[in-house]
Amino acid sequence: MKKVMFQAILFSGFIVSGSHPVLAALPPNVARHKAEFVENLINQMTVKEKIGQLRQRFVSSEMPEAEVLQAITDGQIGAMFGSAPRPVSRVLQDAAVRQSRLKIPLFFGFDVIHGHRTIFPINLALASTWDMDAIALSGRIAAKEASADGLDMTFAPMVDIGRDPRWGRVSEGFGEDTYLVSRIARVVVNAFQGSTLSASDSIMACVKHFALYGAVEGGRDYNNVDMSSARMYQEYLPPYRAALDAGAGSVMIALNSINGIPANSNTWLLQNLLRKEWGFEGLTISDHGAVAELIEHGVGRTGKEAAQLAMVSGINMSMSDTFYAQELPGLLKSGGVTQQQIDNAVRRVLGAKYDMGLFEDPYRRIGIASEDPADINAESRLHRAQAREVARKTLVLLKNEKGRLPLKKDGVIALIGPLAKSGVDIMGSWSASGVASQSVTIYDGLKKAMNNGSLIYARGANLTEDQEVVKYLGASEIENDSRSSAEMIDEAVRVAKQADVVIAVVGEPRSMSHEAASRTSLDLPGRQSELITALYATGKPLVLLLMNGRPLSIGKEQKLADAVLETWYSGTEGGNAVADVVFGDYNPSGKLPTTFPRSVGQIPNYYSHLNTGRPYLPGGPRNYTSQYFDQSPGPLYPFGYGLSYTDFSLSEITLSTQILKSNKSVDASITVRNIGKRDGETVVQLYIRDVVASISRPVKELKNFQKILLKAGEEKTVRFSIDESDLKFFNAQLEYVAEPGEFRVQIGLDSQNVKEQSFELL
Ligand code: BGC
Repeated sequence: MKKVMFQAILFSGFIVSGSHPVLAALPPNVARHKAEFVENLINQMTVKEKIGQLRQRFVSSEMPEAEVLQAITDGQIGAMFGSAPRPVSRVLQDAAVRQSRLKIPLFFGFDVIHGHRTIFPINLALASTWDMDAIALSGRIAAKEASADGLDMTFAPMVDIGRDPRWGRVSEGFGEDTYLVSRIARVVVNAFQGSTLSASDSIMACVKHFALYGAVEGGRDYNNVDMSSARMYQEYLPPYRAALDAGAGSVMIALNSINGIPANSNTWLLQNLLRKEWGFEGLTISDHGAVAELIEHGVGRTGKEAAQLAMVSGINMSMSDTFYAQELPGLLKSGGVTQQQIDNAVRRVLGAKYDMGLFEDPYRRIGIASEDPADINAESRLHRAQAREVARKTLVLLKNEKGRLPLKKDGVIALIGPLAKSGVDIMGSWSASGVASQSVTIYDGLKKAMNNGSLIYARGANLTEDQEVVKYLGASEIENDSRSSAEMIDEAVRVAKQADVVIAVVGEPRSMSHEAASRTSLDLPGRQSELITALYATGKPLVLLLMNGRPLSIGKEQKLADAVLETWYSGTEGGNAVADVVFGDYNPSGKLPTTFPRSVGQIPNYYSHLNTGRPYLPGGPRNYTSQYFDQSPGPLYPFGYGLSYTDFSLSEITLSTQILKSNKSVDASITVRNIGKRDGETVVQLYIRDVVASISRPVKELKNFQKILLKAGEEKTVRFSIDESDLKFFNAQLEYVAEPGEFRVQIGLDSQNVKEQSFELL
């Protein structure tokens, strides 16, 4: 009876909803039972239908192509990836649930990385807030907007630890620190998946790129990763684990190899670690075309071998698949893969669809035609207020000599720079369904905020003049001014001379901080450095607004400026958020989630390094210590660093005890006082050092933090409770242990400038 109803609804031509026939045919109590439902369905599937479920195919707004519709009808595609308007997705879903034999719905996945229609700041910027509520808000809005466009899954969060800024994808991640990234991973998964994954405004998180993609050698994209187990477990794996513990329903498998074995054929990674050790029961998806890439990796000679390796090691779904469809049927016949292996993979795919609520209602997120938005880019679909609120928290004040910032809203401001008027770049890479014309550029934001003052503009420089680079990044991404650089700089200087203050917006086009955009230099590209020197020579006060997706080596340029504000790529409302900070309507509170090196030669340069046998100590002798003799040691800006328009003072640390017994805790407290004239927020950071252990331990590791708001003159005592779990690490045998001995507690407003106390773990 129920089955008949489902079909009636389905074939009414006005499909609203209805349970899957198998689901509906089960008694209500059993129908809710995922395992039974999935088994029941698997039992009805042909081999071809099973393999079809393991394939993900690209969708574009030009779809549906007849060939794709036919493949879906034949049960040859399990999911789509990409972005298409709801009417297109609906037609594809119709083919799956109206035409295909078993009526198994498709799911729709897309890269919703930092917002969907409303673009939030890039993830590196979101991490700079150290504000979990702000990050959660951005994730929740992304989920609402994406699901309203018919999406069921996002290929996010990207939680690869990024310690090599040559790698263009550091912009997509949340920085260099294991603890901070792990905390954010949990928050983002919860934000995407909501209170229940089957809700119409929840989307499944596909945590990526499992594993260690951030550690590609030399920061060169797709390169190999070679890493000790101790380091993996201690520093690189915890964020993925945190995302899975938070309930992420799926995992994307990385393109890189790990110690010589590609992640997509890595049985240790996909079976031993992910399934057995971590108990993950969700879906694994290869990265784009990664199954076929096993041939280039040199572990399989043919598509057949590649498909076999991927299936046997545990790739459930093949993104942009060729070889699962082509080769699995033959492999099954010849015994190269087993029925059980295929069934297991199908089980994961169907399980994910079940969790997303698609068997109950395949149109849960696609919605009904009469409710499709007339204009998918309508202003009413954006969340501008929230984007601005979050974006201003992401800005990091790196320098502010003599209180140059904030500026007054009157007078004459010269705004110079190739990024100042760019609505495309301010969105950052992976800007999903963001529309450049809807972004508030820095020019627009400042102009709108100014009272009687005037804003005058000159471009000043191109972002690159290297035609090869322009070709590589795409001419549509880099719009060059045809004037010579001398002409542009002259014009900028003329404009600067007419102003009371000069703001230069400099950095990288977004396409330089992206996948396949590794750099050998961290300098400002093009003639921007020359431009800054020329602007400095005018003698006008100079403010630099950086727009970039990776730490840049701006030692020379920052010296010439009175103030430097890191704005990252701040999204749809970026210009307004920047104006809020530049004019002091918001007091900056961002802190760097990544170290800024002095030069590319200092990389790797992360704060939580080991001490070495010959450490360089600031102020101490340099000879025969571990540093580079041709440059000042230490970073340009340390991890956790960021200024405010007010100042804070810190008391010494008080510990509740000097002796910590196991199962007990020690409280570390510190009093923070706002000694300036403005209210402001800051982040109080707790670091711990294990002084002597069975293996060398980092000079410090972030273990906790609190972001607090202090009114001018106000003080607050911040307490951190430390117990044995905060002191644990993976020893040489990969046991997770806390070893007795001395621990140093360091608390500061960045990772470098800290107060210190010690206690002993008995
Ligand atoms: C990227 C992934 C992304 C996928 C689908 C790949 O090239 O590495 O991060 O999710 O494309 O767009």
